[in-house]
Order: sequence, then C-alpha cells, then structure tokens
Amino acid sequence: MIPLHLQPESHVPLYIQLRDQIRALVHSGDLNPGDRIPASRELAGQLGVHRTTVANAYAELESEGLISGHVGRGTFIRNEGIARGISPAVHPIVTDGNLRWESLFADDRGEEILGRMTRAVPRGAISFVMARPATEFFPIEELRNCTNAVWKREGAEILQFGPTDGYPPLKQALVELLRAEGYEVADENLLITDGCQQAIDLVCKAFVRQGDTVLMENPAYPGALAIFTAGRARILGVPVKTETAPGMTPGVDVAAIEAVLMQNRVKMMMLTPDFHNPTGTTMPVAERRRLLEIAARFQVPIVEDHIYARLRARGGQVPSLKQLDRSNLVIQIDSFSKIAFPGLRVGWIVAPSNVIERLRRVKQATDLHTGQLGQAILAEHIRRGRLSRHLERTRKAYSGRLAALEQAMTRHMPPGTKWTRPEGGMCVWVELPPGFDSNELLIHSRERGVVFSPGRFFFMQNPQPNTLRLGFAGLNEREIARGIATLSDVLRVEMRKRQRGARRAESSRVALV
Ligand SMILES: Cc1ncc(COP(=O)(O)O)c(C=O)c1O
Repeated sequence: MIPLHLQPESHVPLYIQLRDQIRALVHSGDLNPGDRIPASRELAGQLGVHRTTVANAYAELESEGLISGHVGRGTFIRNEGIARGISPAVHPIVTDGNLRWESLFADDRGEEILGRMTRAVPRGAISFVMARPATEFFPIEELRNCTNAVWKREGAEILQFGPTDGYPPLKQALVELLRAEGYEVADENLLITDGCQQAIDLVCKAFVRQGDTVLMENPAYPGALAIFTAGRARILGVPVKTETAPGMTPGVDVAAIEAVLMQNRVKMMMLTPDFHNPTGTTMPVAERRRLLEIAARFQVPIVEDHIYARLRARGGQVPSLKQLDRSNLVIQIDSFSKIAFPGLRVGWIVAPSNVIERLRRVKQATDLHTGQLGQAILAEHIRRGRLSRHLERTRKAYSGRLAALEQAMTRHMPPGTKWTRPEGGMCVWVELPPGFDSNELLIHSRERGVVFSPGRFFFMQNPQPNTLRLGFAGLNEREIARGIATLSDVLRVEMRKRQRGARRAESSRVALV
C-alpha cells in the first residue's frame, strides 16, 4: 500500500493533496517506473474518499506525463515522465547549443506590474497612468540632511546586518505614530517590510496553500492579484459599488462577501477600504462594522491594505478595520510609498504578535531584512517632524488636484460618462458609455499625448472594457485640465463616429426593407 495521508480538514482540495503526494513519491524514488498504482475505485476505498477525487488527481498526473492508465491492466508510473522530472540530461537544448531558458522557468511567477503600465507612456505625454506621489514635492535637501546625520551618528551599524523585524528607531517611531492615531500597538505587533507589495507576498507565503480561496475586490490592485495568482490561490472577486448616488453605499459589496463566505471555505480576505485602488471608493463605517461582524462569524481574517488611508482630501475620518477590530481578525498592511517616497521601499505590517512572529520568519527566509539606510532616513525624517509636514503639504496638493480633475470632468466629459467621487487617495474610476472599449480610446488619446490605465487591467473576472483609471496625484492642475479636455475631445470624436456608423447601418436597413 502506498503511503498517502490526506487531510480532510485542510484548505487544500483533496485531489490536489493526492496529486502532490503521488508526485512527491515518484520524485523521491518511492514509486518507480513500471510500478502499478491502485485503480481509482480501489484507492478511493482505501483512503475513504470519493472516486472522483482520485480520478481528478490521476487525470492531472496523466496530463503531466507521470502516470498512464491501460484499460484492463491498471495505472502505471511512466518511464518518460520521471526522466523528464529528474534527469539532468534532458534539459531542452536548441540546435545552436543555447539553453532554452523559457522551458526551465517555474510556473508563471513573473507577472509584469510596473513595466506594463509605465512602458505605455510616450515622452512628454500627460500621464494619468500611475497612482504615485508627485516628484516635485520630494524634499531632497531635507533628506540629504537626515542621511548625513544618520551616517555621522551610526554609519557602521547601518552598514551591518540588522534585525529582521526592522530598524528599532523606526519601529519606535511607528509605534508612537500609531498610538497617537488610537491603535493599541506595541513593538511586537509591528514588522517592517519592503512596502505593501512585500507585505502581501509575506502574507501569501505564510497563510496561503495551493488551492486555498482568497476573496478580493473585483476590480483590485494588480500587484496583489499577481501575488495570489503566483501562490496558486483560488481568487474569488466581489464587486465594488462605484456609483455614489444618494442612498447607495460605495465600496466593496458586503452582502456579496457574506454570500461568498456562506458558500465557500475562504482562507482570507484582502481588501482596501480607504480610497480603493482602482475605484477610489471608501467603505462607510457602518459597512466596516458589518464586515467585521461577518468576518468574525465565519472566522475569516482580513488583510486590510491601508496604503492610501492617510491621503484624505475631504470628509470626516473613518476608523480603519484594524481600529474597529475587537476579534483580532485584521492584519493591516501599510507603507511610506504613497505618503512619502516609494523609492525607499519601506512599509510595515500591524498584526497580532503571533502573526508577526510567523511573518518575521517568512521575511527572514525571503530577504533577511529591509535595507537599513532607507529605514534610518525615514526614522530621522519622522523624528524631526518632517514627515507629518510633508504629508500635510502633499495631502493639500492632491486634494486641489482631485478638485481640478472633477471640475474638468464636469466641464468637458460627454453625457453618459460616469466617474467616482473619491474622498482622497490617488485615483478616479471612469465608466464610459456602454459599448466603449477604453483600450481603443487609449490608442487615440495616446496619439494626442494623453494616457491612462484601461480598466480591464484591474479585473480578475468579468472585466468591464468600458472602464478606466485616472491617477491624478502626479499631475499639476494645468496638466490635469489640459489632459481631461483632450481626453474628452477624443471621446466625443469616437462617439460621433459611432453615431454615424449607427445611422449608416440604420439607413441601409431601411433601404433593404
Ligand atoms: C493598493 C496598493 N497596495 C499596495 C501597493 C504597493 O505598495 P508599496 O510601494 O508599498 O509596495 C500599491 C501600489 O501602488 C497599491 O496601490
């Protein structure tokens, strides 16, 4: 009997557990070419699982070339399948003697996040593509002073290996900052990361097994999607309500979350309640409370992406999920990328201490620790009270830019075009009239020197081709006004073309009748 141990209580589907265990037995040499493995009915009986479970596992192993079934004789481990798996002599070589690297790459873990968006920006264009801070506010001189102070005071320590959980003065500064905001946090609840992107990656590595279900907003931040896809998670998207008509609550659809949790075993939820990327929506506090109650009832943790939350342009402050959480359900990830300087690659995680300890170990195996120089510069910047000043200045500027964007949209956009009214953050979500494809619009607007991100890029399922995202923080009011006027003009031209086309089609139909 082959040694197989399935765990019915695991989040990993049984057929995947079975497939992986048989594959491991083959590669470890416990199962050899020519060995017969039990028929699916027989193995299902031995393991006490449904026969389809075994049949599904066998089907995958057969498609990998690891086993083959012969009617009447049984199922066997294949020679060629194993050779392909373990023999070092069979790397595919092309005729000119060069190694074909593509055939050796592991599963698709190299999804493009930054490049795909930035490459599309022609020189001199007005770019609404990125949701990133404005370069002109970077306080280079102040940061030079902070850096000099750090070198002088502790240069040698900075150049040495540091602690995985973070540079202690930065952790201390963050504890103070968070406590002032009402969080109950101590040093043991904090882990410094290389930004939110790494935080998501660490969470995925620490919690998500292949086949686990992760619930996300649809549309969502593509960087998070790329991580969970690479982690082989099953991603379930929940719609985000973008219309802010009176009586309608914006943000992720909490009733839909409840329905998903009732019907699926969900491992965790990943949500951005404040100024969601890409829609800009904010979940009202009542919805947050309802969400936390549902999460507690189903015992499903929430990863709260808090990266934009401090960029409120208007309206009253809304407490974060982490601040409202009474059940220890929330892991909050945050970053200096939007409130300060993304190039330094520093962020943090706030979570229960046992979660932080596990994430710390995963981080250690990933990169030992975040670079100490960036952390020390930020700690010094905070200590001198400069970060809060910088944030105040940029928040005001972005608020003015958001107002300029809305003014220009109201003035120029053709009827039938809708857009969200974010209370802060860095992006506005636009819905073109039905039937329009923002990818096509982009081709024409690029020719006129204006670019944006097509909405399709942010969906994991049911993409809406008539949507697009405008990142406004990096453009000044003049650029915004000019960009929106041009974009609206391109849209009107395309609308007229469509109307002419429709009229022609109608008159030829009339002629035929
Ligand atoms: C919602 C969201 N989460 C995470 C990130 C990644 O941020 P960081 O630069 O901190 O890694 C971004 C970056 O744009 C984002 O928009």
